[in-house]
Amino acid sequence: MSESLKKIDSFVLFGVLGDLSIRKLIPAWYYLERDNMLSDALKILGVGRKDISDKDLKDQVKEVLNKFVSPEYLNPEAVSRLVERFSYCTCDLSKIESYKDLSLKLSDWKKPVTYYLAISPSLFEMVCDGLKGSNLITPDCRIIIEKPIGFDLDTSQEINEKLTRYFDESQIYRIDHYLGKETVQNLITLRFANSLFSSQWNSKGIEYVEITAAESVGIEDRWGYFDGMGQLRDMVQSHLLQLLCLIAMEPPNRLDDQSIRSEKVKVLEALKPLDEESISSNFVSAQYIDGEIDGNQKSGYVNEDGGKTESKTETFVAVKAEIQNWRWLGVPFYLRTGKRMASKTTQIVIHFKSDGHYIFNESKESLRGNTLIISLHPKEGISLKVFTKPHGVDKHSTVRSDPMSLDFIKTQKLLNIPSGYQSLLMDILNGNQSLFLCREEVELAWKWCDDALDAFNQSSQELYYYDAGSNGPTQSEELISNYGHSWHEE
Ligand code: BG6
Repeated sequence: MSESLKKIDSFVLFGVLGDLSIRKLIPAWYYLERDNMLSDALKILGVGRKDISDKDLKDQVKEVLNKFVSPEYLNPEAVSRLVERFSYCTCDLSKIESYKDLSLKLSDWKKPVTYYLAISPSLFEMVCDGLKGSNLITPDCRIIIEKPIGFDLDTSQEINEKLTRYFDESQIYRIDHYLGKETVQNLITLRFANSLFSSQWNSKGIEYVEITAAESVGIEDRWGYFDGMGQLRDMVQSHLLQLLCLIAMEPPNRLDDQSIRSEKVKVLEALKPLDEESISSNFVSAQYIDGEIDGNQKSGYVNEDGGKTESKTETFVAVKAEIQNWRWLGVPFYLRTGKRMASKTTQIVIHFKSDGHYIFNESKESLRGNTLIISLHPKEGISLKVFTKPHGVDKHSTVRSDPMSLDFIKTQKLLNIPSGYQSLLMDILNGNQSLFLCREEVELAWKWCDDALDAFNQSSQELYYYDAGSNGPTQSEELISNYGHSWHEE
């Protein structure tokens, strides 16, 4: 086993009292504990600014589990085992002395150590310096950072420069939590284990692809952060472009991190940049105004808590992306994502081409080709729409379309689908980087988004508005219908 593949038993969680830790990481640790996936030796040191004791942190971990794990999954023994693993270190990340305390706490911990930065990206560089200053960086330790890595290409390069000054690429785990989702991991199996699909997976077989990540939540208490980012940077730059890469990439030579990452990089390199000329017909950005979701009144973006009325930040983006390579020439990839939309729906829809010679009564337009719906939310599963003959003695020449569906919970007899973070934490402990982003992927994705935003800002195109609780602005329907296509809505 190489040094970088040593199992990890010492885990330092910066930002243990922050939102990411509370909502996602601590519950994910719990499920791993409950399923006996963790080594007995694993210890977790929570780091935070507040001056609290080990016992206070243990109490908070219990509270978090009671709040974020459904009661039917709570096993008291697993809860106490997990709680016992936690201890706490108060640390002001901007002060070099704080890292001395951290170093003292870790002095008798098993090496190597993993450092998980569940903190604002603006603090990443400071923490790297602090760790370095206290000799906490060893050749086999690991560092974990979450998207967004930077705010644009320049800032992301600065962060990556700093990281690579202190850490080898094999020690750096850049998280996009979408890659931990079961259905996203399943994309590789679906594409490369089913010859039925692999033979059709190109511009001869596919007419267009849609990737939608709609959320019904608004911005809530993240207004300050989000207003500086917008939906393109927050969602498209990593989550949607990663889904696009997995749908569009060539078969990797092997299932290892190097092979998968290099195929994804080739897709990002082949993305056609949006420029001032192409932006108006390929890009829509919009912001939500007051509306209603499930009978409840919702405020517009600028009227949310902490909102500024003059903000022009987009909360919705629809964009037509093109991949300029042999496989995908002429196949549009429509990406759409927004906050405060009618419902939370995350899905990829592959529209196959219809046959050239058509013999049925329905018009060819009303019966396009088969559709494959890969659903990440609300259900995780796959559904293929196929055409069949309707029942009846007089229906010989008509057709109907019905789904052949796989709901992963039912077919795999699961109680629930693990959150993406469970997979990611296991891979970090085991030193498997295939579900994490390499530097090149992050930077190419930023370049494409920066170009789109520059083109938008230089053009005369306006920011549109949509009602909270709708499917986005009408201009998003027009964007796709102008090319003879339509968004798939259930
Ligand atoms: C995060 C974004 O990365 O992903 C959030 O910052 C977004 O704005 C979230 O709400 C969506 O994740 P999921 O797993 O709920 O689709």
